[in-house]
Amino acid sequence: MQTVLITGASAGFGKLVAEKLLAKGFTVYAAARRVEKMRDLESLGAHIMHMDVTDTESVNTGVAKVIEEQQRIDVLFNNAGYGSYGTIEDVPLEEIQRQYDVNVFGMGRLVQAVLPQMRKQGSGRIINTASVVGHVSTAVLGWYASTKHAVEAFSDALRMEVKSLGIEVVVIEPGAVKTEFDEVAFATLDSLDHAEDYKPLVAAFRKFTGDLYSKSPGPESTANAVVKAIEAKKPKTRYATTLDAKLLPRVKRLFSDKLFDKIVLSQMK
Ligand SMILES: NC(=O)c1ccc[n+]([C@@H]2O[C@H](COP(=O)([O-])OP(=O)(O)OC[C@H]3O[C@@H](n4cnc5c(N)ncnc54)[C@H](OP(=O)(O)O)[C@@H]3O)[C@@H](O)[C@H]2O)c1
Repeated sequence: MQTVLITGASAGFGKLVAEKLLAKGFTVYAAARRVEKMRDLESLGAHIMHMDVTDTESVNTGVAKVIEEQQRIDVLFNNAGYGSYGTIEDVPLEEIQRQYDVNVFGMGRLVQAVLPQMRKQGSGRIINTASVVGHVSTAVLGWYASTKHAVEAFSDALRMEVKSLGIEVVVIEPGAVKTEFDEVAFATLDSLDHAEDYKPLVAAFRKFTGDLYSKSPGPESTANAVVKAIEAKKPKTRYATTLDAKLLPRVKRLFSDKLFDKIVLSQMK
């Protein structure tokens, strides 16, 4: 059975995908910082490991352990990530750097760590987690959206570079999904001291997005899409996993930028 390494397996999509793959008999390496949150996966048969994707040594040690124990890595599900909301002006630079370190450089660290083994095998599948906001960016989530735009660009380039080596690259694009994600994103937003000028916009965004998450689906459809991407003989390049993720980029293309801005801002009043 195939060996799969999952980052961000202590919650949300990562944990549910791990459960589904374990039930199907995959060999699963589940990685995250909160090891105690993966004990349930361990009891289901997962190999759990502490990994901070912002720490190159931690990433390299984890990947080396998988290779040492299994002599291969068939699939990397690059899923660790978080949202950090706030206006472009008011999110502190250290927080922006931290967000890029997890969402973009963390993903890159994992890819650089697994590729030598996948090239040696002449096979492998890398599944990167982007978002609907990798295509559509709005006020108050611009820094987060920019990290997911980066994931899309990175994945397009990587897909071309490794195509002839037997390695496939897939992008997962969820919309708003109820996991621990919104709690983390709102905690970062609420910790910021926004300039007076932005306060009405931020309050409207907070209400709009809070309402959206209270009605959002759970992680099931996204986890199913990831399993499909892992099992498919010929996976799609991109999987938009929720209705909003399927519709929003198409709707955006129908309108001019100015009209789209107007529509978004009218929702944040
Ligand atoms: N839920 C949504 O609405 C949504 C929509 C689009 C895209 N996404 C993306 O989907 C992915 C998973 O999100 P989710 O919804 O499942 O969120 P979640 O429930 O908050 O899970 C996030 C996971 O990422 C891990 N993580 C965060 N920082 C890390 C770090 N420095 N090193 C290692 N692991 C780290 C967390 O583990 P530890 O804290 O234990 O390390 C956790 O397991 C993220 O990339 C997110 O951006 C989510």
